[in-house]
Amino acid sequence: MFHRHGKTFFEFFKAFLLPCDKAYDLIASKFNYTPFRTPDLILSSIAPHIGETETIGAALDICCGTGAGMQMLRPLCRDRLVGIDISQGLLDIARKQNSDKTNGVSLEYIHGNALEMTFDSEFDVAVCFGAMSHVTTKYQDKFLRAVARALRPGGRFLFVSYYRPKIWSLRYWYYRIFNMFFFLRNLFLRPPWIVGKLHYCLPRIKNLLEYHGFEVQIIDAFEGDLAWAKLVSARKK
Ligand SMILES: C[S@@+](CC[C@H](N)C(=O)[O-])C[C@H]1O[C@@H](n2cnc3c(N)ncnc32)[C@H](O)[C@@H]1O
Repeated sequence: MFHRHGKTFFEFFKAFLLPCDKAYDLIASKFNYTPFRTPDLILSSIAPHIGETETIGAALDICCGTGAGMQMLRPLCRDRLVGIDISQGLLDIARKQNSDKTNGVSLEYIHGNALEMTFDSEFDVAVCFGAMSHVTTKYQDKFLRAVARALRPGGRFLFVSYYRPKIWSLRYWYYRIFNMFFFLRNLFLRPPWIVGKLHYCLPRIKNLLEYHGFEVQIIDAFEGDLAWAKLVSARKK
């Protein structure tokens, strides 16, 4: 499914029945062949908006997975690059993929829950790629408080979002059906997956970031078929 080197439909179905961290562990070995790994094309469009080579002291990749964001951030960093993820399987692959590319930057892989982060004024940049859907409305205040706390004054939090699609669009119904599958799953299986599309759309997420003391910029970083996606860059005041 998704790629000839990827997992089968049945393996994805099995993962869907497991708790979130175990599901990602199960697909870890083939994760880079799934659409859940942020494509390099997207990352290369984001990099120029973050900074030039070695201009960032310390950066944090929240829900780093196999380290797609870390690979993009590493050349931009001077001192420290941290990835945090709930799946040990994905972190192991991130570590393996980056072990030969430290270039003097300290790389850390933390097995932990992004909703429980306790970093304190440690980072100049924090990113969260492909995983804002794991921060549903109920957890957004707590999460944004933790992100704000993790950043130094003037530090930036960047992620990809989009304006809420119109109800008659295909994308709207794709997101609704995605949410319905997990809603049904969570009725019967424990622990529930914390996941949902349409939770972090613009302009609502911009207002929430401003409420948490960020100055927000919405950037048209993508072109063509991806022009609907927006890069959100939120600076801690
Ligand atoms: C779609 S993947 C994106 C991975 C990576 N950021 C990328 O762009 O390729 C979502 C990631 O979020 C992680 N995740 C989900 N819930 C999490 C949580 N509460 N705390 C930390 N990581 C979490 C998963 O383990 C997975 O690595």
